[in-house]
Amino acid sequence: MPAMDSLIGLVNRIQRACTVLGDYGGDDNNAFSSLWEALPTIAVVGGQSSGKSSVLESIVGRDFLPRGSGIVTRRPLVLQLHKTEEGTPDYAEFLHLPTRRFTDFSMVRKEIQEETDRVTGKTKQISPIPIHLSIYSPNVVNLTLIDLPGLTKVAVEGQPDSVVQDIENMVRSFVEKPNCIILAISPANQDIATSDAIKLAREVDPSGESTFGVLTKLDLMDKGTNALDVLEGRAYKLQHPWVGVVNRSQADINKNIDMIAARRNEREYFATSPDYAHLASKMGSEYLAELLSKHLESVIRARIPSITSLINKNIDELEAELDRIGRPVAVDAGAQLYTILELCRAFDRIFKEHLD
Ligand code: GDP
Ligand code: NA
Ligand code: MG
Repeated sequence: MPAMDSLIGLVNRIQRACTVLGDYGGDDNNAFSSLWEALPTIAVVGGQSSGKSSVLESIVGRDFLPRGSGIVTRRPLVLQLHKTEEGTPDYAEFLHLPTRRFTDFSMVRKEIQEETDRVTGKTKQISPIPIHLSIYSPNVVNLTLIDLPGLTKVAVEGQPDSVVQDIENMVRSFVEKPNCIILAISPANQDIATSDAIKLAREVDPSGESTFGVLTKLDLMDKGTNALDVLEGRAYKLQHPWVGVVNRSQADINKNIDMIAARRNEREYFATSPDYAHLASKMGSEYLAELLSKHLESVIRARIPSITSLINKNIDELEAELDRIGRPVAVDAGAQLYTILELCRAFDRIFKEHLD
């Protein structure tokens, strides 16, 4: 029986190849975007400073996202994690810089900032055009995550008032897609009833079956209070269990506490907490990453029939397209068509083996 993990990896690679091809435009766009949309993705949603970037960095286990006050994420970041063989070094690649391999993750942060500015200007404008980043590492699980601008209630200096609504519309356009899984981030030091993430999730996913609630900043709650009402599902019930996390504080970041130490501190926090020790095995960023990966597996499994039929349709279309082009005029586009075709065939083969 083939590992489901490799199937998620394959889904990741098909999505990436579809995106690369999508960049060339043309008539083929529809077939590939429908294939992309048939495959599940996870969107990170929450209010400004709720801890979205911190959660993403914990899942990846690397520092690589721009940070600061105000609206830092101003374009969607489509982050694809690809698990590689044990012992191989981590690296990152941007879709818009296909020939450059980043091994220094502080340069990844710088490039996200610069690429954001390239489209939005140095103003605080937002843009719905995504930045695509792939991270290859033996220490990640195969996942596609989308970081989105934080929901906000007021525009800051230099921004038009419309920015509040523009951000909400942008976030909504991602989470409304039928195969979108919502990672709803809420800070524990604010009343859950006021959480922007939960408000939006409730609206687009009323049954809660596609929403994962993440509670950040447990360490910042007032002394003598705890978040058990939320974590045990009494305050706001979701189909999936809530996961509490403790990310690095601003002071930790200023002291350059690295991600490895941060994960260790987080584990220790839960293991030794009088309030949460009984939940310790189901808390923290590492558990969250595993939970999301398992969920993706089950979603993909449930969609095997519809994905395979789409893929078979695409194999036919790709073969016809390759026949038509003959020798590819645009070499890159041709190569991508072959790549998708190969991936689709592999996908189809693994599914068949899986069903046998
Ligand atoms: P975003 O705006 O939603 O992406 O939020 P960030 O991840 O940038 O976090 C905003 C601030 O909150 C940063 O200074 C983080 O260090 C801090 N922060 C995030 N999560 C936690 C947490 O669990 N505990 C503590 N103490 N600080 C956190
Ligand atoms: Na929030
Ligand atoms: Mg952020």
